[in-house]
Amino acid sequence: MKVFLDSARLGEIEAALARGFVAGVTTNPTFLREEAGLRPLAHLRQVVARLRPLRLPLSVQVMTADPGEMVRQAEVIREALDYQDLVVKIPCGWNELAAITEVSKRGIRVNGTACMSATQAMLAAAAGARYVTLFLGKMTDAGIDAGAVIEDVAAALRESGAGCELVVASIRRTYDVHECLRRGAHVVTVAFRLLPGLAEHPKTAEAVRGFAESFVALDVEGQPAAARRSSSSRTADVSLHSSS
Ligand code: E4P
Repeated sequence: MKVFLDSARLGEIEAALARGFVAGVTTNPTFLREEAGLRPLAHLRQVVARLRPLRLPLSVQVMTADPGEMVRQAEVIREALDYQDLVVKIPCGWNELAAITEVSKRGIRVNGTACMSATQAMLAAAAGARYVTLFLGKMTDAGIDAGAVIEDVAAALRESGAGCELVVASIRRTYDVHECLRRGAHVVTVAFRLLPGLAEHPKTAEAVRGFAESFVALDVEGQPAAARRSSSSRTADVSLHSSS
């Protein structure tokens, strides 16, 4: 299962990319409004500048509820960003399926987003979406067994062999990521604030504290003992501090 970062903040994107595990970035109109105000495309160009060397997929949502306008905006976003790994997010709905089909036919990859049911996700995939996104937290809020839906959709997409991947968003707790993993999601997209919790554990910190008692200076040939001691304590210091 791949981990995407769910954020439009440049600092968060840089910090996550520096840790090497991020396989893509997803944004939404709310994130962009917060970060970019009325200049979303200018901000997204800065995001693209960070992703382009790594060729990571970037999901950008249309900012309209009108399906015809969604197709027009998909073209505008493609033109403005000039990024081959762009994915345009279109929320799933009856009329929106026509937009998903048309945008996909034009060679723009689509993420059929805001799905709350297996049928929404399956129809978006059949209409040509490259990704479909289920909102785990919001589904749970509505009393839906989100884990079971994730499992069903992931299995059906694998069986179809069409290459559409299931993304799970609206992740609220560290454990949600494990749930996505065990249910077979292809991708989980996670807010930056939850990421350190995926990499750290109190028992790991405890184990490292135990090892730290045994740290000695590395016996590098020709280096004075005093210098070796100080370099050893620096190493212990770095390893015991949490990343942020
Ligand atoms: C997808 O764009 C986001 O993950 C989603 O909107 C966040 O959902 P939440 O507000 O339910 O966590």
